[in-house]
Amino acid sequence: MTQVAVVGAGLVGVKRAAALHASGRARVAVVADADAARSRDFAERFGCEVAAGWRAAVRHPGIQAVVVATPNDSHAAITLAAIRAGKHVLCEKPLARRPAEALRMVRAAEARGVCLKTGFNHRHFPAMLEAKALLDAGAIGEAMYARCRYGHGGRPGYEHEWRAQAAISGGGELLDQGVHVLDLFRWFLGDIREVTGTVLAAHWPIAPLEDNAFALCRTAAGRVGMLHTSWTQWRNLFSWELFAQRGYLIVEGLGGSYGPQRLVIGRRTADSPVPREEVKEYPDPESSWRRECEAFLDAVATGRPPLGDGRDGLEAVRLVHALYRSARRGRAERVPPLGAPVEVP
Ligand SMILES: NC(=O)c1ccc[n+]([C@@H]2O[C@H](COP(=O)([O-])OP(=O)(O)OC[C@H]3O[C@@H](n4cnc5c(N)ncnc54)[C@H](O)[C@@H]3O)[C@@H](O)[C@H]2O)c1
Repeated sequence: MTQVAVVGAGLVGVKRAAALHASGRARVAVVADADAARSRDFAERFGCEVAAGWRAAVRHPGIQAVVVATPNDSHAAITLAAIRAGKHVLCEKPLARRPAEALRMVRAAEARGVCLKTGFNHRHFPAMLEAKALLDAGAIGEAMYARCRYGHGGRPGYEHEWRAQAAISGGGELLDQGVHVLDLFRWFLGDIREVTGTVLAAHWPIAPLEDNAFALCRTAAGRVGMLHTSWTQWRNLFSWELFAQRGYLIVEGLGGSYGPQRLVIGRRTADSPVPREEVKEYPDPESSWRRECEAFLDAVATGRPPLGDGRDGLEAVRLVHALYRSARRGRAERVPPLGAPVEVP
């Protein structure tokens, strides 16, 4: 039974704790939230100890792993302290506000020999896992390009929440929701070597942060990912389309306010210009949290890297910042492989 500390008992900290608890393989032993009342409520719900601050939580001798579910500005400090204490870490997306922070986290975990996983639960949605398995099995041929629209409409007062404070969040909608999609592009299409983007502060009074981002990403093999991510979508939307030589895969919905999740598998046929379509529905998309938790616990147990590891988190943050540079400079930006000379903002 892996003993875990959860730092940050907000929306996602509670989801992570519930998934750990439900796995039957982990126990949430310790919590630390900057808000004492939240820590208390969480401790009552999960029957755990309240630590005297996050530093005490990550050093707690009774735990082997830490979930970091605080706002983005504290991911690096908390994760680095946990790694130094020899703990495995599941840190929420974005792994950090900037590539330099994320690189330090990845290097520290590799040097200490502990698991660092990024909270990329979008890889663990049932429809997404099935789509990836179909692509890998050659069911629709070679991938050519992917197209994604992802967004919501904020809520009254959104501009006062931490996501709208640049010093805390480190970026707007591209770093918030877009980072998931950039990670999916890499997973389905391969490493991205060039990006072009533009960003807008179209509605919310949050400049220099963006409430909309438009991105074109090109892989080394010439595949393309196209993304529009938005805080002015007004009605929540997740639409992911992947086109390949012999067909396509479409994932719609994430459950809840994003609508039910379904996968459309389109296959071209020799005898008709109209592809044959098969539609699959997934009643429990929330299971992504449970699956991702299992992947983390497996990685802790086996020492093998989890799906969506620290390096994936770093690469996604590098892509976000390359897109910010592209938007500022009005030109395409190269994204050299790590190890090659890198511009680390
Ligand atoms: N994987 C996903 O799909 C997903 C979805 C939503 C949010 N997130 C990420 O999860 C993180 C948390 O987001 P949220 O929506 O749960 O936010 P939230 O505001 O609901 O919760 C954050 C909690 O952290 C606490 N906190 C802040 N600073 C702290 C500190 N230094 N030490 C201890 N506690 C501290 C706050 O009091 C709050 O309870 C963010 O990085 C966000 O990007 C990921």
